[in-house]
Amino acid sequence: QPGTVKLANGSSIPAIGLGTWQAPPGEVEGAVATALREGYRHIDCALIYKNEAEVGEGIRLSGVPREEIFITSKLWNTFHPNAVESLRRSLKDLGTDYLDLYNESSELLPVNPDGSRAIDRDWDMGKTWAQMEDILASGKVKAIGVCNWSIPYLEELKKTWRSKPSVNQVELHPHLPQHELVAWCKKEGILVEAYSPLGGSGGPILSDPDVASIAKKHNVSPANVLISYHVNQGIVPLVKSTSPSRLKSNLQTVKLDEDDMKKLNELSEQPGKHKRYNTPLFGWDLGFDDWYGPQDKK
Ligand code: A2P
Repeated sequence: QPGTVKLANGSSIPAIGLGTWQAPPGEVEGAVATALREGYRHIDCALIYKNEAEVGEGIRLSGVPREEIFITSKLWNTFHPNAVESLRRSLKDLGTDYLDLYNESSELLPVNPDGSRAIDRDWDMGKTWAQMEDILASGKVKAIGVCNWSIPYLEELKKTWRSKPSVNQVELHPHLPQHELVAWCKKEGILVEAYSPLGGSGGPILSDPDVASIAKKHNVSPANVLISYHVNQGIVPLVKSTSPSRLKSNLQTVKLDEDDMKKLNELSEQPGKHKRYNTPLFGWDLGFDDWYGPQDKK
């Protein structure tokens, strides 16, 4: 593991995390156990990934003591009025009595009378955050954060927060560098976590010629460059793999020089390369502007 990064609350978070989103049941248990044996000490989970019980099994299978592992889970969107219940389910499934980090995603999704779900635009996110702060005070989680928050949402929350989020977890990679958001979080002392750092499965960033040339220069894989891009800036990438060899090789980081970083930071300015690969509300077909603030658009 390439070291740790400090959170605003003073605790440390391992610099690379294992992502578990879309890790299929039947594979995630083995991947978690292998990752822990290979040296990962940070696992990023969520209730909505619907695989936390298996992640918990993988942790126990690895033989690595709970207290050596940094575990994150997330409040799911249907639980904004009852954050404690979402947490209770995650703790039960993971088989642990505390989390190192608990993240809130955006937007309340209540169930309509016909069973469908829609976003409640009138929901006050400050009400959810107040519950997160109470959960923090209860000691069941050591830090609280948010996921997929853009600057306007964060500015709004800032008006009422008692504890600021320790992290903001967003999609981040050279095709979606979100420079303004990263700078805002840095200024506020909020750590940025990067999901989909490789641009997702078979994504075009891994085969981008500029990434390939930097990889060749350092004699590493394109994935190592994309992971190092974050680690070099103190951003924590959450990398998903279920392949033992890729799990292992993804822990290798390199020191990228100024020229490499400039290239990667400016990659999304090339025609057609500014691209988001995930819709956080998968399953709920939202338009781009519905979810993100205008600063996210190019
Ligand atoms: P696999 O699980 O077969 O390794 P992201 O983290 O950006 O969402 O990307 C995850 C995807 O990238 C997974 O589908 C994973 O597939 C693949 N992946 C993980 N590590 C590497 C790597 N070193 N080289 C190529 N693909 C990788």
